[in-house]
Amino acid sequence: MLWLASDARPSLLGSAALIAFLHPLATAALAELPDPPCSATSNRTHTFVNLGSLIRRKGVDQDYTTRHDNVSFSLNICAPALSADDLHFPSSQDAQNVSAYYRRGDKAYSLGRTSSKPKFVGKKLVLDYAGGSLCPKLDSDGLPIEGEDNEAGYRRGLTLSFVCDRDLISPPTISFISQKYNCSYWFEIRTASACATVKAQSLGPVAIFSIMNGAYAADGYSRVRDLPGVLVTTYGVGELSAMNGVAGAYAEHAGFIHIVGNTARALQENKIMIHHTLEANPDHGVYRGMSEPIRAASAFLNDEATMASEIDRVLITAVKTRLPVYLFIPTDVVDTPLNATRLEQPLDLNLSSKPDVEELIVKKILDAIEKAEKPCILGDVLAKRHAVTSETRRLIQLAGYPAFSTILGKGVVDETSPEFGGLYNGSRFDADVHSPPFHIILVSFPGIKDAVESHADLVLNIGLHLTSSNTGAFTRQIADNKLLALHPHYCSIFGERYEGIHFVPVLQKLVAEFEKNKDKYRKRNTVTRFEIPTIDKSTSGPLRQSYIWQRIGRFTKADDIVFVEVGTAQFGMPDASLASNVQYETQIYWSSIGYTVGGTLGALVAAREKGNKGRVILVVGDGSLQMTVQEISTYIRNGFTPTIFLINNDGYTIEREIHGPEQQYNDICTSWDHMKMLEFFGGRQKGFQSRSVQARTIEELEAIMTDSEFIKSDRIQVCEIFVPRLDVPWVLRNQVDAHKARVKAAAEVQKKTWEGMVLAGAFT
Ligand SMILES: *[C@@H]1O[C@H](CO)[C@@H](O)[C@H](O)[C@H]1NC(C)=O
Ligand SMILES: *[C@@H]1O[C@H](CO)[C@@H](O)[C@H](O)[C@H]1NC(C)=O
Ligand SMILES: *[C@@H]1O[C@H](CO)[C@@H](O)[C@H](O)[C@H]1NC(C)=O
Ligand SMILES: *[C@@H]1O[C@H](CO)[C@@H](O)[C@H](O)[C@H]1NC(C)=O
Ligand SMILES: *[C@@H]1O[C@H](CO)[C@@H](O)[C@H](O)[C@H]1NC(C)=O
Ligand SMILES: *[C@@H]1O[C@H](CO)[C@@H](O)[C@H](O)[C@H]1NC(C)=O
Ligand SMILES: *[C@@H]1O[C@H](CO)[C@@H](O)[C@H](O)[C@H]1NC(C)=O
Repeated sequence: MLWLASDARPSLLGSAALIAFLHPLATAALAELPDPPCSATSNRTHTFVNLGSLIRRKGVDQDYTTRHDNVSFSLNICAPALSADDLHFPSSQDAQNVSAYYRRGDKAYSLGRTSSKPKFVGKKLVLDYAGGSLCPKLDSDGLPIEGEDNEAGYRRGLTLSFVCDRDLISPPTISFISQKYNCSYWFEIRTASACATVKAQSLGPVAIFSIMNGAYAADGYSRVRDLPGVLVTTYGVGELSAMNGVAGAYAEHAGFIHIVGNTARALQENKIMIHHTLEANPDHGVYRGMSEPIRAASAFLNDEATMASEIDRVLITAVKTRLPVYLFIPTDVVDTPLNATRLEQPLDLNLSSKPDVEELIVKKILDAIEKAEKPCILGDVLAKRHAVTSETRRLIQLAGYPAFSTILGKGVVDETSPEFGGLYNGSRFDADVHSPPFHIILVSFPGIKDAVESHADLVLNIGLHLTSSNTGAFTRQIADNKLLALHPHYCSIFGERYEGIHFVPVLQKLVAEFEKNKDKYRKRNTVTRFEIPTIDKSTSGPLRQSYIWQRIGRFTKADDIVFVEVGTAQFGMPDASLASNVQYETQIYWSSIGYTVGGTLGALVAAREKGNKGRVILVVGDGSLQMTVQEISTYIRNGFTPTIFLINNDGYTIEREIHGPEQQYNDICTSWDHMKMLEFFGGRQKGFQSRSVQARTIEELEAIMTDSEFIKSDRIQVCEIFVPRLDVPWVLRNQVDAHKARVKAAAEVQKKTWEGMVLAGAFT
């Protein structure tokens, strides 16, 4: 086991890679690339060591040297000695590919030819050179006679044995161990390069640019792969930079495993003032406390006796809770051999805690459904995050009831299914007591609110997450006496709560009951299938937000994965109809601007691992892009070919709409040339191709969206879409108007109060 992250370069691994990484026995299961030269894998422990970095290069380096008994030895590792070319060897045969030699007088003696195949002998890693100069003849006492060759033709050889030494950041140290008959030699090399490391795999790691993007990417990976991704960072600088992304993954149940490389235990105990610590006598673990509120479990691996079970405990929590977890690993721990017996037992990921209570809940749900006349299903975001999208869709298919998604849950109900009823987002702000009720603020399409709140007599809400942005700012009004709520922490039947019951086993049992009794629970859909109205029917002219979101929706094809940035896109894209089985992801609740550029990287890795047939599409604004743009380079470096819709409206339009439309703090540098972006990051014609196109009008956008090459998305491509600076989706406009009206009314009330006070002589 070994670290990938150096100081400022965290790495993202696929979770399967992590499990192999923590559980050496599992490595065999992964597709592996062949070992590079100068590396070796132990058949017994699967330890992999790569000595490649020790090779000394011509014109750059000098040979390694060591002395013994007034003799100086020169050598290279896995390559010929650099200084051997002009030497005079006893025979020309000796002079071929000499990897190690010593000199005596004007003669040089070869200690063997180059080999680049180190091997494990038991636990020891050795590299043998053989076929050097002839060994000397021995006298009657068995001592070598200098200058006389043996007649049997024995040749000199050298064995290098390697010892892992993590404390050495300095060059490797070479010591002479022994020699026999001036013929066979043994040297030992102590170096950090001889420590076990992770073999290159077809799956992860993906080294990234910015650490926060690494957290976003691990989050995006978890969403798409339905398994936690892995982020590896260093203590202090790395783990702190990642924290915003970790907190977002916590808020949105898109958790991952964060491995933090810590200083060696001895350095921690002695409070060494090493880099990334704070002051004299530093506590190296001070940062561990900082992530406590944003993780579901953690382990500091400092005790050999419990390490294996601690790793398992943390991994189990990650998978079960879908929240972030931390493993803190001191550098001196990574070579610790652990008892591998535990690996024979799969991790216990069973979410069922009280089967009898779960069955009772299922029975109550089935009874309620039998009695109901117009039940509906409300698919919600935690169904996606807890990896039960397919169970939810199967239930909808078997039930035949109208099915709605929430805003965050968009996509959990297949939008092409006959049951799809639209997106439910509450309906209006309740007039608060200090301001008159101005107007009803529509945030769901007309009809959907009534279908859910009034028409339906039972709402089965699967995976609910009652955040402001998912409930129309808490305007959702589903009466308790018709709500069946399924959540990771509880299930609730008409207001009766069963705490600590996870909804996933309940849902699975429910689906099984529906499968068994196909006719019993099926009901005729009493709501006609919802067709999202076309908001902007224009066919020509300049582009506006009212046109673009639904157009991007029509661009989606079955199995696409779409990441939609916070900002105006998150208000506009819900109006888009998605093709079948499209995975739609956005980070509306946490709302960290720029999230999707990193998140999409994780989605790309996950999609490649899963062999997903659809495309990966990123919808991002020019302002958001400037926060995290460098990760585009990582897409290119890894050969990914996402389609990027880049909405250019000269800055943070969402913020302009909310406050300060002309304020400088909502501006960005608008001189970026997005048509050169992919080229700059490496997507050039030669090697890795890219495509960059622009649209200012409907006609231009249509030409792009119907171009078969663009649709294919077989290379990375960006489509820059220009819309006016202050143009926003209708939902946002409605909401902000209402907010402004409210503020104005409140100000009126305030003014009247003040006037009243002035009139009453309060200030005289
Ligand atoms: C290790 O395993 C490989 C592949 O199974 C085999 O070719 C090789 O001989 C083995 N090496 C040792 C030292 O057992
Ligand atoms: C060691 O080698 C040097 C130069 O080759 C020589 O001058 C010196 O006498 C040698 N010392 C011994 C102890 O053999
Ligand atoms: C010397 O090494 C090179 C590769 O480094 C190899 O191609 C060549 O065959 C070797 N020659 C002999 C004589 O071993
Ligand atoms: C040769 O062997 C003698 C006796 O073991 C030893 O003292 C001497 O250092 C050896 N020389 C070399 C070059 O290994
Ligand atoms: C490893 O753990 C198993 C189960 O706890 C135990 O039976 C076995 O003796 C352990 N092996 C070693 C080498 O400690
Ligand atoms: C999960 O755990 C419950 C008890 O907590 C048990 O009844 C059930 O059989 C387990 N399921 C599986 C698949 O192991
Ligand atoms: C959902 O309602 C909330 C509160 O009104 C609003 O902020 C959000 O924009 C709405 N979302 C959509 C996509 O309609």
